[in-house]
Amino acid sequence: MEQQGLFRAWEEEAQSDPQAAIADLSALIKGYDRAYYQENESPISDAEYDLLKRRLQELESEYPQFVLPDSPTQSVGGAGAATFAKVTHSVPMLSMANALNFQELDDFEARVRRVLPLPTPVQYVVELKIDGLALSLIYKERRLVLAATRGNGEVGEDVTANALQIADIPRQLPAEAPDYLEVRGEVYMARSVFQEINSTLPPGAQKANPRNLAAGSLRQKDPQMVKERRLNFFAYYVINPVPGVESQSQALAYLRRLGFSVASSLPPGFKGDPNPLCASMEEARRYCEAWTGPNRQKLDFNIDGLVVKVDSFAQQRQLGVNVTSPNWAMAYKFPPQEVESVVEDIIYQVGRTGAITPVAVLRPVQIEGTTVSRASLHNIQYIRNLGLRVGDRVKVYKAAAIIPQIASVIGAYTWPTRCPSCQQVLQHSADYKDTRCLNPDCPERVERALLHFCSRDAMNIEGLGVKIIHNLVCDLGVRHFSQLYALSLEELSQAANSTILGGEIKAEIERSRQRPLANLLFALGIEEVGLVAAINLAGHFKSLDNLRESVLADPQVLESIPYLGGKETIPAYFANPQVQEELEALRQAGLNFQDRQEGEGSSKLAGLTVVLTGTLDGLSRTQASQLLRSHGAKVTSSVTSKTDYLIVGTKPGHNKLADAQKYKVPLLNQSQLRELLEAPQALESQSAPPQGETSDLFTNSSADKGEVHA
Ligand code: IVH
Repeated sequence: MEQQGLFRAWEEEAQSDPQAAIADLSALIKGYDRAYYQENESPISDAEYDLLKRRLQELESEYPQFVLPDSPTQSVGGAGAATFAKVTHSVPMLSMANALNFQELDDFEARVRRVLPLPTPVQYVVELKIDGLALSLIYKERRLVLAATRGNGEVGEDVTANALQIADIPRQLPAEAPDYLEVRGEVYMARSVFQEINSTLPPGAQKANPRNLAAGSLRQKDPQMVKERRLNFFAYYVINPVPGVESQSQALAYLRRLGFSVASSLPPGFKGDPNPLCASMEEARRYCEAWTGPNRQKLDFNIDGLVVKVDSFAQQRQLGVNVTSPNWAMAYKFPPQEVESVVEDIIYQVGRTGAITPVAVLRPVQIEGTTVSRASLHNIQYIRNLGLRVGDRVKVYKAAAIIPQIASVIGAYTWPTRCPSCQQVLQHSADYKDTRCLNPDCPERVERALLHFCSRDAMNIEGLGVKIIHNLVCDLGVRHFSQLYALSLEELSQAANSTILGGEIKAEIERSRQRPLANLLFALGIEEVGLVAAINLAGHFKSLDNLRESVLADPQVLESIPYLGGKETIPAYFANPQVQEELEALRQAGLNFQDRQEGEGSSKLAGLTVVLTGTLDGLSRTQASQLLRSHGAKVTSSVTSKTDYLIVGTKPGHNKLADAQKYKVPLLNQSQLRELLEAPQALESQSAPPQGETSDLFTNSSADKGEVHA
């Protein structure tokens, strides 16, 4: 971000104050040089660096009066670091001019032709441009005596002890080698080695790419460490004249003969010399094209382009060198990598002059070793021209500006057709405002529903958080609320990964059985039924069974309730057979289906098994059963020898009465039952007088608003 800010500021400045822009850009590049040459870090990619430098060169040629004496365009690199002995190179280690496209390769050829006009034959060698660090090797009497880094191009560092640990670097040359030989090449780390080693390093020592790790490795104090880093070396340059070696292609063959590794630049599928000689730039271009694309990824080392060199040494001498690079070589740099991303947002930044710059917020992607999450959109017209919309899929690249750019829109936003969790086909409403996964067993959906069920305003089951619920769903196959009440201590402890926590959750689950009806209604997660609606429903219908039966009989009953959402979803919910099954399971689990204060139920019928026949005044069968349960009774459907009472309402069934007689089961009529429940103590105790006409048997208090966290 800081880099982007800097660059934006500089771009504005270039218009208004080119002198300041040149100074700022020079300082910026020098900072990167320092980072690269002294700290082995590359805060930006090579392509970005090259382009920055190019912009500076452009500005400098436009305003030569502002060029700084120590401009980074006038020297090759940074100064050496202190830990290794300094070495002055016999011949400066230069850098290379870059061609960013094929036109620039043609321009290079044109410059060559100005010095070597047609019909002079000019041949070119194409080599891989290894993304590593240059190393100069000096052999005396065929023994390696000095290995030096490039440093600032003039003065480098003596890393001989470390170079001796690199398997590809011969310590001893064969007899055919001359007494003095200076070879240059590239130290690099294979991609596979980088993958293997980098992850094992402490976070502070990890590097963004193989080149950075190779650089850090080469500058280790302990040569043994260097050996463990398994660096490699490709040779590509013979500095001193050697009889019989008159061209670059001969030099490469000679280096191979002496035992050096030389990278083959023959793309897969091509036949012939490993470093093909090209009779024209057009031919050279074909090799460049062949390496652009997937072929590049097949190598186990990084290349950042190809190098096209004039083959003949005699012609090289004629072409000469300039301040920073030879006139006989050109690096063809691969076009910036384009990576797919998604525009997640478009934000607007206010500049120093008040200019508003739109910026795309991207789903973060890796491009050339850095994470990119923003792209410049320049101006509104630019967005309009691209036809860009939030949600679009785009191709992003890092360009001249350090700010990443959007190359193209490759696909309008498309909505998902399948659930991201269970992959079932999603259902969209006609207006596409509602998209839903209808799979009741969808893991993510189940987890969300359970999480809601346990939340504070719902069943308030503390301790059952995201992680444990995830384990319950994934490991124990929990799909329904009711299953929570059947979980054993062992199962809960397993899901919580702790016996203590498991025990606490078990107690919380037990406690939740007494939760007020309003909270239970909210917990069920009926669509459009929030907490307020749940309170209203509980207050109005008094019991879950009454609510269910009433809305199923006539959905219009909901019309009279104020402030109620879900007038259509509530009837649909209760009509669902799966819901009915689950509600029955929750009832069996002993949850509170009555609208009464928590703990209001008695245990006056505790331990008794009762059967109901006929209807009780004003109550449906289910309401009556729920009522009996709330006082501790076990309500069963048929009379057996285990039945304690048969409760007889109006229009009792003959069979049940007959069975009661058969098994000698005592009968309780409505008024006896009422009396029984109104008694302050247990069954036989009838000392207290009835509480009046309306007992808590038939008139329940409203929801405990204290429990309901509205
Ligand atoms: S020739 C300047 N050949 O690229 C001429 N350089 O950008 C001497 N490099 O410092 C270098 N692969 O570190 C040459 N096949 C190759 C190369 C290569 C990578 C590096 C080298 C050089 C830099 C210049």
